[in-house]
Amino acid sequence: EMDRVTVIAPVNIAVIKYWGKRDEKLILPINDSVSVTLDTSIMCAKTSVCFGPEFTENEIWLNGVKTSFSNPRLVNVLDKIKNIAATQRSVDNAVLSWKVRVCSENNFPTAAGLASSAAGYACLVTALAKLYKIKTDVSVLARIGSGSACRSVFGGFVRWHAGVNADGSDSIATQIADSTHWPEMKALILVVSDIKKHTSSTVGMMNSVNTSDLLKYRAKYTVPRRTEEISEAILKKDFAKFAELTMKDSNQFHAVCLDTYPPCVYMTDVSHKIVEIIHAYNDMCGELKVAYTFDAGPNACLYLLDKEVPTLLKLIKYLFPTSNLDFVIGLGDVDGGDC
Ligand code: DP6
Repeated sequence: EMDRVTVIAPVNIAVIKYWGKRDEKLILPINDSVSVTLDTSIMCAKTSVCFGPEFTENEIWLNGVKTSFSNPRLVNVLDKIKNIAATQRSVDNAVLSWKVRVCSENNFPTAAGLASSAAGYACLVTALAKLYKIKTDVSVLARIGSGSACRSVFGGFVRWHAGVNADGSDSIATQIADSTHWPEMKALILVVSDIKKHTSSTVGMMNSVNTSDLLKYRAKYTVPRRTEEISEAILKKDFAKFAELTMKDSNQFHAVCLDTYPPCVYMTDVSHKIVEIIHAYNDMCGELKVAYTFDAGPNACLYLLDKEVPTLLKLIKYLFPTSNLDFVIGLGDVDGGDC
């Protein structure tokens, strides 16, 4: 029986966004970011890895389809893990020459701007680290695959520290609070579209770094303050403060996208309609009850406390009668259930 490791990893949705790199190869960001890890019941990635002397080439299968292993990020991740294995002598030298087979699946619309690369890379590196029996900070390995992936190696509320070191050794994720800290917190995902036609995050953020003045202001002044404030709001379970910071940060991120030249436009008319509805709802309630956030795509993630869920779902179903793609998710842990 050949060695095989299977791992599942959760999706995370940022409330303080990562946007812009200071190092493209090591994937080092220009600012800290904060995210919420969702439970794996509805969305997650699942990866199996194995190796053996009988394989003639590295192989990767994504949702059952064989894909090229030439993706440089994939190659970097595998090289890094093998280097660590060689240094730690965690496997025999002969094993290091074996080729690997990776099978990865996810149960949600890929490329719908729903953090598929984050869960995917978090899963892949955790599986490979186990296969090669290495001891290391997996968030650093995940980061080399995709920046946001380093936050998916922890459950609950997570902060990715930008770090200052050129080698990225201090650009790691840490947990702000675990998934049991604020059990009333829920995420409601509204899938506006699962069609991929926008600029990828990688290209979009590179253009922003090269052309947006607002991004420089954001990284220097806005994000450092917001990261501290939202961490405090999370620890104090201050929903109104958490919601305000989340919405403002999503809006500033999309303002940076528009300030990029040529602009990256991720939100659609429906996205903007959702923003309008959430503000109207909060105004009607007289306090902040729901927050929206949008990544590099049109789909909304709403954060709200569980007592608001029934009303919000009713409202969404009434306003968007044709949408059948909304689901509520709790906070999650790593290795926290079936996928
Ligand atoms: C808008 O992590 O997908 O979702 O590091 O180039 O792989 P790469 O980018 P990626 O960017 C995510 C951007 C975002 C914000 C966030 O998740 O913080």
